[in-house]
Amino acid sequence: MTTPHTLLRSLPADLDPNRLPHHVAAIMDGNGRWAAQRHLPRVKGHQAGVDALKELLRCCKDWGIGALTVFAFSTENWGRPRYEVEFLMTLFEKVLHRELSELVEEGVRIRFVGALYLLPEALQQIIREAMAVTATNTGVQFTVGTNYGAREEIVQACRRLVEQARLGQLQPEEVDEKLIAQHLYTHELPDPDLLIRTSGESRLSNFLLWQMAYTEIYVADLMWPDFDRPAFHAALKSYQGRQRRFGKV
Ligand code: FPP
Repeated sequence: MTTPHTLLRSLPADLDPNRLPHHVAAIMDGNGRWAAQRHLPRVKGHQAGVDALKELLRCCKDWGIGALTVFAFSTENWGRPRYEVEFLMTLFEKVLHRELSELVEEGVRIRFVGALYLLPEALQQIIREAMAVTATNTGVQFTVGTNYGAREEIVQACRRLVEQARLGQLQPEEVDEKLIAQHLYTHELPDPDLLIRTSGESRLSNFLLWQMAYTEIYVADLMWPDFDRPAFHAALKSYQGRQRRFGKV
C-alpha cells in the first residue's frame, strides 16, 4: 500500500534521519513516454516533468536532504528534433524566470553545470542571474546539468590541468584524484550518495561518471512525471537498506 501524500510532509517514520543521503542525483527519464501514454505531444511530458522536479526539490527541503543534482539536458540531446530542443531551451528559460523568486525565498542555491556557453544567450543570461542571486543561500544545493556530459567535463578539466603544466605551474606527480575533482563542474559539491533513474532504464548515460564511482543506483519503473513523494520515499527506503562498503569488506 502506498502512503498518502498528506502523511509525507515530514520525514516518514520508517526512514532513519541520520542515514539519509546528503546528495541525491536524478536522471529524469521517461517524459516523452509519459506523454505518449496519454496521447499527448512529447513536450507535454517535459512540462509535467518540471512539476515533478519542483515537488522533489521541496521534498528534499522538507526531509533534510542537502543537495539535489538533476540531468536536464545532455550534450547528446542536441540530436533530438529541432522543435523539441527549442521547446526545452525555452522551457528552462521560462521556468527560471517564473520560479526564481520562490527559489530565493526557499533558500535554494541553484547552480547550472555543463558547457553553458553553447546555450541560447537569453537562457545563459537568466542562468547567470539565478546563480548570482542564490549564491549565498544555504538551503538545498540544487544543481542542474544543462548541456552537460561527463566526458566533456573530464576533457575540460584535463585541458585546464595541461595548460597549467604548460605554464610550468603543475608537475605530473601533483596530479591526483583530489586535483581532478577540483577541476570538475561539481567541485563545490560532495559526490552523490544516491542516483535515481526513472522509466526502468539502468544506464548512467554520461552523467557524473567521475563523481558516481561509489554512488548507490536506484531504478524506478515510473516515468519521471509520476515520480512523487511516495516514490522518493521508496527510493530512500531502498538506499537505507543497502550496505555501502566503498570497496572494503
Ligand atoms: C528525459 O525524458 C527528459 C529530458 C531530456 C528533459 C528533462 C527536463 C525537465 C524535466 C525540465 C527541467 C527544468 C528545469 C528548469 C531544470 P525523455 O524525453 O528522454 O523521455 P523518453 O525517454 O520517454 O523519450
